[in-house]
Amino acid sequence: MMKMTLPQPAAAPHISTATHILRCVHCGTVQSEPDRMFRCVKCSELLEVVYPEWSEAGPNFGLRLKEIWRERRTSTLPEDTSGVWRFRELLPQLERRHLVTMSEGNTPLVQLKQSARGLGIPKLLVKHQGLNPTGSFKDTGISAAISVARSEGFTTVCCASTGNTSASVAAYAARAGMKSIVLLPSGYVASGKLAQALEYGARVLQLRTDFDGCLKVLHEVVRKLPIYLLNSLNPYRLEGQKTVAFELMEQLDWRVPDHVIVPGGNLANSSALGKGFLELRELGMIRVLPRISIIQAKGANPLVRSMRENNGTELVQVNADTRATAIRIGNPASWRKAVSVLKTSGGACEDVTENEIASAKAELGAEGIGCEPASAATLAGLKKLVLSGFVKPEETVVLVLTGHMLKDVDYIIQSQVKRLPSPMEPDITAVLRVVEQINAEK
Ligand code: F0G
Repeated sequence: MMKMTLPQPAAAPHISTATHILRCVHCGTVQSEPDRMFRCVKCSELLEVVYPEWSEAGPNFGLRLKEIWRERRTSTLPEDTSGVWRFRELLPQLERRHLVTMSEGNTPLVQLKQSARGLGIPKLLVKHQGLNPTGSFKDTGISAAISVARSEGFTTVCCASTGNTSASVAAYAARAGMKSIVLLPSGYVASGKLAQALEYGARVLQLRTDFDGCLKVLHEVVRKLPIYLLNSLNPYRLEGQKTVAFELMEQLDWRVPDHVIVPGGNLANSSALGKGFLELRELGMIRVLPRISIIQAKGANPLVRSMRENNGTELVQVNADTRATAIRIGNPASWRKAVSVLKTSGGACEDVTENEIASAKAELGAEGIGCEPASAATLAGLKKLVLSGFVKPEETVVLVLTGHMLKDVDYIIQSQVKRLPSPMEPDITAVLRVVEQINAEK
């Protein structure tokens, strides 16, 4: 088994390390023996990680954290160069030998120009989570949860996935010297993601069903065999993913944006983002929350329907279908958590058509920002939110782009093929003529 070799820590600034508990998000029961499916032993709802000791943290705790996190930026230790573990005071405490990290996080915040002008929103930014080690935001969550798996002695990890989780699980398991088993909906995973899972050595099972069907099967497998579930039902995933809020706030010099917009599939990412901001507020590190809005594809919009039809009290399941395969999910596990984020942050929930996603994606691409279709749903959603007046011109907006453009190149080739001229002879005059025309274009 491969061991991570980490340099020994220098006398790192130390601050109290909090223990955590797992608590049900619905009935509040604290779990003494957590179920392997990470479901409440009483009511079967999802669990969340809570740090009871924070309530005793003094008013200077938050201030001190900001300093410590800033100081770590000059450190070369793996746990400090990680955009997850750099924030370890607000994460479950693990021994450093169990950390599985590849400098995840640390993603750029980029200002959009053309779209900003087009929409009349000058302060429009993208946080590009697609620039993580395996090309999606999943890496932050997988680094956290697989490190917990390792500390608990598991040697095999598994997930059901629309593709990105499987790529990330495969890579991090390989780093940790663990076996990984991934269940994928046959025919509905973008080829870049499938290729990654294979290359990183995962055992890939393609099931003739959708994501929701894969997850259902995996539940039964995990109940029977000692393998560790890395789907976002696992509350430790969200602990890793919430760090995007911390990193974003550092990048914005702790000025809270008015809006953060994320795509929604299984709804863990929006939940994690909300948890991160809420914790910062609880610790006095920010005063207000941004409005966190969630955008779904029209063909896979269970949250949008639930909010519209019953204000989020019950989940309206749908038969999902969208070319944004990452979010092709009809029965999202974390819907309750996402509803709570929408309500506490005052965010909106919208759905966008396939055409709206495709043109938003091309628009981002045209200003040099590549992303996968699910990520582009955020810009498509923003357009609707600007039109409805929910987002105002003077406000600061951050779109979270969740996946790398090269994850799904088939989608791009299909949408952009009309811009690709037929092959031509290597004839200088003919090429000159075309170049001249292009040059003369406005
Ligand atoms: N964007 C991308 C690129 C994704 O891969 C996913 C989810 C989402 C958005 C939605 O995030 O599920 O937390 O609401 N992908 C999962 C997977 C389901 O298996 O890779 P969510």
